[in-house]
Amino acid sequence: MAEGTKKPFSVREIREQFPALRQTVYGKNLIYFDNGATSQKPQVVLDAINRYYSKDNANIHRGVHFMSQKATTEFEEARIAIQKYLNAKKSEEIIFTKGTTDSINLVAFSYGELLKEGDEILITTMEHHSNIVPWQMLCERKKLVLKVAPINKKGELIEEEFDKLLSNRTKLVSVTHISNTLGTINPVKELAKKTHAVGAKILVDGAQSIQHMKVDVRDLDCDFYVFSSHKVFGPTGIGVLYGKEDLLDRMPPYQGGGDMISKVTFERTTYNELPHKFEAGTPHIAGGICLGEAIRFLNALDMDAIQRHEKELAHYAQDMLDTFEGVRIIGEAKQKTSVVSFVVDKIHPFDIGTLLDKQGIAVRTGHHCTQPLMDFFKIPGTVRASFAFYNTKEEIDTFIAAVEKSISILK
Ligand code: ALA
Repeated sequence: MAEGTKKPFSVREIREQFPALRQTVYGKNLIYFDNGATSQKPQVVLDAINRYYSKDNANIHRGVHFMSQKATTEFEEARIAIQKYLNAKKSEEIIFTKGTTDSINLVAFSYGELLKEGDEILITTMEHHSNIVPWQMLCERKKLVLKVAPINKKGELIEEEFDKLLSNRTKLVSVTHISNTLGTINPVKELAKKTHAVGAKILVDGAQSIQHMKVDVRDLDCDFYVFSSHKVFGPTGIGVLYGKEDLLDRMPPYQGGGDMISKVTFERTTYNELPHKFEAGTPHIAGGICLGEAIRFLNALDMDAIQRHEKELAHYAQDMLDTFEGVRIIGEAKQKTSVVSFVVDKIHPFDIGTLLDKQGIAVRTGHHCTQPLMDFFKIPGTVRASFAFYNTKEEIDTFIAAVEKSISILK
């Protein structure tokens, strides 16, 4: 296939590449609708994990020997694949971390060191705990002020309120690209423009967007973009912080140790260049290499067709759930991805989730690490079905029938 040509999307062909989908639980065919929590892995990623540990396992950036150099090359090629996929200017702007949470903590600690008392951080009501707590910790440490932009009942950011909270005291806006609980897609490109107009920086939490849409960090003009490998068909324990080079250059290291140094004496240490300055210690080498594989896998697919398919699944599920008496959809934003969260009158989400599980259907129930968002909707939690490109309409038919059955048992 010519460079840039995408393979036509076929859900049947895609499914064949994910062995985990071909299993039964409690004697039923597995229906995996918990992709917001983590995604399943394609065969190419599983093969890459096996290949690395059975053949190429060596430490990187250190050895003169063949295996070390091979592992180093593969790890750095993965970085370049990610750089190209995100359309970052340089591979030095791609920092490997443990995941989204680690990336946000890195920025909170390191960029936070550049801030002073009274400076403000702006987030929104729909943030995941990992995009709330690191800022609260920073605000306490440096005496900064945390502001929260409100949302409306549909689960959309109220932009006029966001605008009012932005000022020349704002130093960082940290906002989710897509809400893990509601599926709301935030207008991050527009928010970046507004943020830059007051001289602040913007971090986009891409934990729920990288697997659903094409992300171009230069087009978004975000200062930081963060995501986890395991949400994008790669392994757990590895993720990415993209940052603009000049900003990363100005930021102090997050952790000290091997690889992040240029020269160490007992009197003074100088630090390595980007990206190594932020990568202390032996990284998750297999993870980085396999994330690269997952990104190449995704890059070969037609993302527009995937988006259309996922949207169709979400509409189909939501429209049917909407007709059930006592069911309330949580998250009805106009711009929304393939997440359907709902509550049922007088039934706890956990009970629905448990009965769905017994019917072979994996969903997440609870607060989804967004307790302030649950407080806003005055609910303890939701049942959340989150779809990926390998899910089908037939699976949704089974799911809808299972929800109906569960409600009738629990009423
Ligand atoms: N953040 C993940 C979720 O939404 C774990 O389920």
